[in-house]
Amino acid sequence: MSSDRFPDGFLWGAATAAYQIEGAPAEDGKGPSIWDTFSHTPGKVYHGETGDVACDSYHRYPEDIALLKRLGVSAYRFSLSWPRILPKGRGDVNPAGLDYYSGLVDALLEAGITPVPTLYHWDLPQVLQDEFGGWAGRDIAQAFADYAAVVAEKLGDRVGRWITLNEPWVVSNVGYRWGRHAPGHESGAEAVAANHHLLLAHGLAVGAIRAASPSPAEVGITLNLGVSRPTSPAAADMAAELEARHNGVYLGPLFAGAYPERLSQEWSPALVPGLVKDGDMALIAAPIDFLGVNFYFPGYVGVAAADGQPRAGERPIEEGFVDVRPAGLPVTAMDWLVEPTSLRELLTRVVAPATGGLPAYITENGSSWYDYVNQDGEVVDTERESYLRGHLGAVRDAIADGVNVRGYFAWSLLDNFEWAEGYAKRFGLTFVDFSTQRRILKRSGEYFARVTRANAVE
Ligand code: FCB
Repeated sequence: MSSDRFPDGFLWGAATAAYQIEGAPAEDGKGPSIWDTFSHTPGKVYHGETGDVACDSYHRYPEDIALLKRLGVSAYRFSLSWPRILPKGRGDVNPAGLDYYSGLVDALLEAGITPVPTLYHWDLPQVLQDEFGGWAGRDIAQAFADYAAVVAEKLGDRVGRWITLNEPWVVSNVGYRWGRHAPGHESGAEAVAANHHLLLAHGLAVGAIRAASPSPAEVGITLNLGVSRPTSPAAADMAAELEARHNGVYLGPLFAGAYPERLSQEWSPALVPGLVKDGDMALIAAPIDFLGVNFYFPGYVGVAAADGQPRAGERPIEEGFVDVRPAGLPVTAMDWLVEPTSLRELLTRVVAPATGGLPAYITENGSSWYDYVNQDGEVVDTERESYLRGHLGAVRDAIADGVNVRGYFAWSLLDNFEWAEGYAKRFGLTFVDFSTQRRILKRSGEYFARVTRANAVE
């Protein structure tokens, strides 16, 4: 294997999520999700945009599959909309919803593309928010496992690899602690409770999927893990605390059956008395087959100035500490730092030791830039190409370090509804003109197609 090549059989893919691309929010019996509600609430999403149409992939998925083929990928990570399948969250199944995904799976397989569905990418049935308080209520965990069983029973003859949850950290913190995502709550206690119930839901779903699937199923979870680099020794403890909140809170329960010890009170399950019940930790630690890792940018933490005023490039994190943007590192349209070596560090320093060498997949990685269609009808997104090249190199370096990375899914196949940012932030390898739904493969998409075909980074 020359140094720029990936191992034989390395899985190349692209990723999307239901609410971000499908549209058709009330078609064929679909029930409302918390993102339908949230995006229609004034002031929640940039420019008041919603996922009502998005990329119209509910109707245009054959076109999307053709794009996957142009990218030369052999896998597609998409998510299932829970309220499309169970409009009331539980109980009666909506056959049209299940059939939609069944048809998508068939069409992918026909195109020679392996379907890798995620069961939960943030669009909770609104009724479960109303009935249980969403993820803050314990009953949600069993409801999720029941939903997982319905889906595995129907699709498990053709789907062999499942992802239970996407980024529980974002669900609990961005949705329940800071309120910038649905359901828009601002409660530390709810965030901690939601986090535990997400983990419990995952653990129950692992067993439910295996039991319901007609053929053997590989099951994993996708986490957005982080690297926090201290800018001085005085910030080292804070950096470790941030990694415990970001990584330890998942890697501990999933792989060692315990929450990390060094967690500050407001992030610890101890904040909510009675939250962790006997048997929970064993359920959460149910053995899984792989870990999905989403990665976009590293964090740098420093000590705040004595007068408490943030200096240039700093943002307060909490009492005494600031998030730092080191000079010289590029930032994307999301204002996220670009530093590929941090992905290698994450995989070698954090992921491999915590998981004991379990297969890992990069289930999302990508960047947002101010793309436009030029006079020749092309999108020349050299920044995205260079971001990709750097991060693919980092993955390959981690593999050379001995990390068991089995595949890479680019985020995203398409420009799409970027949550609270609406359509302003484009992450696609394909440009989408949202007024016509015309898709144009970007320069970065052509680059990625060369990588997938050569199984090597240029
Ligand atoms: C991740 C999400 C994904 C997308 C990217 C940019 O946190 O999982 O849906 O929004 O960020």
